[in-house]
Amino acid sequence: NLNKCQTVDLPRINDPRGNLTFVEANRHIPFDIRRVYYLYDVPGGAERGGHAHKALHQLIIAMSGSFDIHLDDGYAKKTIHMNRSYYGLYVCPMIWREIDNFSSGAVCMVLASDYYDELDYYREYNEFIRDAQKVSP
Ligand code: TYD
Repeated sequence: NLNKCQTVDLPRINDPRGNLTFVEANRHIPFDIRRVYYLYDVPGGAERGGHAHKALHQLIIAMSGSFDIHLDDGYAKKTIHMNRSYYGLYVCPMIWREIDNFSSGAVCMVLASDYYDELDYYREYNEFIRDAQKVSP
């Protein structure tokens, strides 16, 4: 599962007037986008995430500033430093994620495959691990 979570190099249109990046559903990411949300005004030292999703697919982008994303599929872990507006991190279902080390002014944008649904969340790490380890890595 963790191997499916890769950084996506999004298209970049460089221009002296400013650069442009775009994301197209089912072309750059393997899902339709139903929801967009973003974290901003994150105080220094704060940690976000701390959950997993049962079915949701997401693409996480550092629109501004930087932060670290820690991923865990119940078998292995990896950390990705996000610091470019043209890098997306695809996060598939059944991945525990924590986001920390936010720089000042960081904006974390998330493209999600579905509407917000609390029933899709694992909020307890132990419950996530129990279910994640029922399937092979
Ligand atoms: P939470 O999932 O804890 O934030 P994060 O994991 O990114 O740190 O969500 C914080 C609150 O916001 C929680 O009460 C649920 C609510 N929320 C929505 O209502 N809609 C959404 O799309 C999201 C992502 C969260």
